[in-house]
Parts: sequence; C-alpha cells; structure tokens
Amino acid sequence: MNTEIESKISTVSNPSTGKSLSEESRIDSVVVDTDKVTITYERTGISPVEKREIEDKIIQALSSDFKEDNIFIKTISKDSKDVLGTSSSPQQEQSKEEPKEQAQLKTGHAQPAPKRKVEGVGKIIAVSSCKGGVGKSTVAVNLALSLKNKGYSVGLIDADIYGPSLPILLGKRGAKPEANEKKKMIPIEAHGVRFVSFGSFIEEELPVIWRGPMLGGVLNQFLFDVDWEGTDYLIIDLPPGTGDIQLSMVQATDIDGALVVSTPQTVAIHDTKKGMKMFQQVNVPIIGFIENMSYFVPEDAPNKMYYIFGQGGVSKMTEEVGTEFLGEIPLVTSVREGADVGQPFMGQESNSGSDVWKSYMAITEKLEDFFKKKDNKGKGFFSNLFK
Ligand SMILES: Nc1ncnc2c1ncn2[C@@H]1O[C@H](COP(=O)(O)OP(=O)(O)OP(=O)(O)O)[C@@H](O)[C@H]1O
Ligand SMILES: [Mg+2]
Repeated sequence: MNTEIESKISTVSNPSTGKSLSEESRIDSVVVDTDKVTITYERTGISPVEKREIEDKIIQALSSDFKEDNIFIKTISKDSKDVLGTSSSPQQEQSKEEPKEQAQLKTGHAQPAPKRKVEGVGKIIAVSSCKGGVGKSTVAVNLALSLKNKGYSVGLIDADIYGPSLPILLGKRGAKPEANEKKKMIPIEAHGVRFVSFGSFIEEELPVIWRGPMLGGVLNQFLFDVDWEGTDYLIIDLPPGTGDIQLSMVQATDIDGALVVSTPQTVAIHDTKKGMKMFQQVNVPIIGFIENMSYFVPEDAPNKMYYIFGQGGVSKMTEEVGTEFLGEIPLVTSVREGADVGQPFMGQESNSGSDVWKSYMAITEKLEDFFKKKDNKGKGFFSNLFK
C-alpha cells in the first residue's frame, strides 16, 4: 500500500455518513505502477450518485500526482447488488475503471459485439430523426424507390422494432419472408425493392432460424442473417430519437452515411446536436438533413403553398450547426394516401413531374454525389491530383 497516496485520499468523505473513507476502513488497496494508480475501495451501502461523488473527489485529491486517465478506481462490495446495480451511468464509471475488472463486475451489461460487414451490400444508409412522426419511414421508403428508379438495387431494413411500418407502407402486410438454402432470410420484394421488418414476424411463430432472438439482436439478424447479395444501397429506418437503442444499432456495422429527417416545426438545435454527436461518436458521417412536410399544397389549388409549420426551419438549423441541407418535401395528400394503402408515392409513374417527385429525385442525386465524393477521397492523393 502506498501510504503517501493513501493519506491523500483518506480524507475523502462518504457523502451519506460524512465520515472519511479511512474512518470507515473502506480503502482496500492502493497500487502505484509508474504513472498509473489503482485504488480499490469497499462500496457497500453507497449509491451510484454517491459513488460518483466519491470518485470525483479521489481524482481531485490525486490530480497533482496523476493524470485523470491514469487513475483507476475499482470497488469491492460485501453486497454484490451494490456493484451490479450501478447502471445509472455506466459510461462515466467505465472511464475510471480498468476494462478487465469492469467486465467482471458488470455482468448485467452486454459489451457491444465487434462490427461486422454486411455481405453483398454496397452502401448502408441510416435514416434517423430526433423526434417521432416526422415522416421518417415514408421518406426512407420513397428514397429507396427513387434510388430504384435510377436503376439501383435497393434493400430496406425496418429497425423500428416497436412500431414497424414498412409492411404497411409497402403493401405487404402479412407477407412472411422465407429462408433460402444457405439458411438466410430472403427479403420480401415490393415495388421493385426488398425489405425486412419485425412487423412481418409479430404474432406469428418465428421460423427456425429466427428462434430465440433477443429483441436487441433483431437488427443484427436483419443485417447479417438476410440474403442481401447484390444490393447497391441498404437503407435502415431507425427508431425515432437518438438514445442508446439507436446508438447500439448504428454500431453493429459500418454505416456509410446518415440522413436525418425533420419537419420545420420539430427541428430543435439541442436535439439535432445530440443526434449529430451520436453519429460522430461512432464515426458515421452525416449526409445531411431532409425537411419533410415543408409546406402544404392543396389538391384543388396545386399552385398554392402554405407554410403551416413555419418556413425554412431545417435549412436555417443546418447552417447553424454546419451540416448539409438536402432538400424539402411538401405535405401533400397523395403522399399520405399512397402510404396508407401500400402504394408509395415514388413507386407510381403517374406522379413523375410533380414537385414531390422532383424533390425526391434531387435529394437522391445529392445522395449519389455524397458517395461519389466520399469514394474519391478514399482513392488517395495521387489519383485526385491527376484527375
Ligand atoms: N410529405 C408528406 N405529405 C403527406 N403526408 C406525409 C408526408 N410525410 C409523411 N406523411 C404522413 O405522416 C404520417 C407519419 O409518417 P411516418 O410514419 O413516415 O413517420 P415516422 O417519422 O416514421 O413515424 P414514427 O416516429 O412513428 O416511426 C404518415 O401518415 C405519413 O403518411
Ligand atoms: Mg416510422
């Protein structure tokens, strides 16, 4: 035990009793290894909030001797529930504990699986939104069809396991995917694109290869147990929001880019920044923002535009946070009607020439440009130089 270090931390107090850690004989060991120190203390009866307070004080007490990253704090507990119950902020604890020990303590937290490549897929795009009900699924489906209209082979994954909507939007309610000879799921074909959705499985007995999946593993199965061979673009319709569920989903594989859908009214700088941070954290580039329901065009007065949710909200916000604005899609009755009856707007030739059609095609071109630029960047200095 290193007495000098121990005396520095012995005065740190337990907030629930006001007594110091040494008075309560809580310090189990202090091990110094060149520029690193590992402190182990007994934490029985200390809540997660108090634990954090204690550890912040320990770090502060040792700040003149060690860099924060080199201070490791471990806990032991007579009552194992105290240790396993600290789920309030696992990330903060992680930074202060040595990973090996932590894996033993946090038996309740699954470590994220290593990233895998989705076989047979060119580009993977995640469609997200900070808020629900902004038209994310509608946009995902219509973009998929726009890409298909340009000659690409497109797949769609409905990652919204709580509110799957692709079977309805694509007119395939009740259709069940089959398995092929490689024991892979064959995606359902609709309007020239292929999709999988949790909605196709609920209320039904799961096929053999799908038995026993945990809810959190569904996206992994949609990515890796489905035959996506020959897919140019795979679009993932994420559940709304930017929390832990979405974060773990975008960590399963290398996502090539994220699209964020918002309405002029639901856009908020705070939510947007949070969403952007989530993608940055896992190195997913943000392709840009799409404003949906930008203005209302009445069927009986197609030349009129009503900005019922305010004008230019999303483009203004993208300027402020420094991301790309990809375009606006008006609110028109035919988009909603098509979605309700499983006849998506961009799947109907008769809609070509309309403003909505043009908007989708313009956004699709920007999407292609994004990937062209991205791929060229990857070709290195010399190939760019001689272009
Ligand atoms: N541009 C549009 N014009 C008219 N109706 C639209 C438009 N975009 C979406 N809608 C309609 O708005 C409703 C919500 O759309 P959608 O289900 O795609 O939203 P979402 O963001 O995916 O919702 P959730 O958060 O529940 O997943 C649907 O009824 C859809 O048909
Ligand atoms: Mg949706």
